[in-house]
Amino acid sequence: MKLRYKILNSLLALLVASVAALAITISYTADCEPPPGVSAGEATMKAVVSRCYGGPEALEYLDVERPTAGPTDVIVEVKAAAANPLDYHYMRGSPYLMRLGAGIGRPADIRTGVDFAGVVAEIGEDVTKFAVGDAVFGGSNGAFAEYVRVRENGAITLKLDDISFEDAAGLGIAAVTALQSLRDDGGLVAGEKVLINGASGGVGTYAVQIAKALGAEVHGVSSTRNVEMVRALGADHVFDYKQEDYTKSDHQYDLIVDMVGNLSLSANRRVLKPEGRMVLVGGPKGNWIAPLWPPLKAVMLSPFVDQDIGVMLAVLDADDLAYLAGLMASGRLTSRIDRRFPLADTAEAIRYLETQRARGKVIITP
Ligand SMILES: NC(=O)c1ccc[n+]([C@@H]2O[C@H](COP(=O)([O-])OP(=O)(O)OC[C@H]3O[C@@H](n4cnc5c(N)ncnc54)[C@H](OP(=O)(O)O)[C@@H]3O)[C@@H](O)[C@H]2O)c1
Repeated sequence: MKLRYKILNSLLALLVASVAALAITISYTADCEPPPGVSAGEATMKAVVSRCYGGPEALEYLDVERPTAGPTDVIVEVKAAAANPLDYHYMRGSPYLMRLGAGIGRPADIRTGVDFAGVVAEIGEDVTKFAVGDAVFGGSNGAFAEYVRVRENGAITLKLDDISFEDAAGLGIAAVTALQSLRDDGGLVAGEKVLINGASGGVGTYAVQIAKALGAEVHGVSSTRNVEMVRALGADHVFDYKQEDYTKSDHQYDLIVDMVGNLSLSANRRVLKPEGRMVLVGGPKGNWIAPLWPPLKAVMLSPFVDQDIGVMLAVLDADDLAYLAGLMASGRLTSRIDRRFPLADTAEAIRYLETQRARGKVIITP
């Protein structure tokens, strides 16, 4: 064998071995972290923690140390929290690639939950934007607890009086994702026609209303039992996916926002105007390639077509939260709450969300 083929073969073998080693490492699930201790004299609280990767049964309702405020921290007494698919992705450490950030083998951070609404219970000495007693909402790790610590300059904003704690908690990840996918990534402007696939879920129920508030003609996609609900949220037209495939309709859209990823990009492009935009928000579940494949295809296809096809990753942002609170206070946005669970039953809340049949938001109350 010629030397250059030998070198090529060795490099290929090295590449395969490295990919295999990475795959074995990130898919390894270790035993649980020991339960967190509580130092003598420290205040405690109830919280839901995940000491190892697994299904909802891996979530535990425990007494843990209550967080204290650093100089620029705010401690919020949680009145309501909201569940999101992000919570079960972290719970399972799936897709495995995310374990590179979330922790190899077991979660690096045992706190669970992100979206919260509540009352400021304590502030750090340098905090100027919030005072004890303020009603606030936002997102921070550890929201499935009686108290959560948030950075003053993090994703936290004042909750307006007209909005309930449950409605405000629902906004967090889901409404920010809806807003950023439509307005920022999707560039939606008044008079345009938008299709929202997955219009009855946490993100979709907000997306329908926000798209209407932005002045668009809104078409949604849901199963039969949710058609009326999506229409009541303001959609001008609703496709019942059990009866009709929207990619085979005669409509042409300026923007498609896809929370489901069940139909191919080429099918979606058929109902997208020649210079239309498509934003991929969600996709199939899976540990390995299934969730990554649609975004990869979008990135590879995008340079070769006139239509703009992109993947979005929402960023929790205090200004966007304040904008959404304003929309809600003006009566143009509501949280469509499906089910409520006590904090002790968070595992059940997540089990329900994982069915992917939620109709709007799933709320957790301490
Ligand atoms: N990129 C980001 O930054 C980002 C941020 C947030 C969420 N996400 C992702 O976005 C997706 C949606 O999140 P979510 O919070 O809205 O989830 P969710 O609340 O669990 O969504 C459930 C909804 O999906 C609908 N659905 C299921 N199959 C459908 C289909 N074939 N066609 C149309 N609708 C269908 C269901 O409606 P029916 O019962 O009527 O079928 C249900 O109402 C998830 O994959 C999530 O991981 C991404």
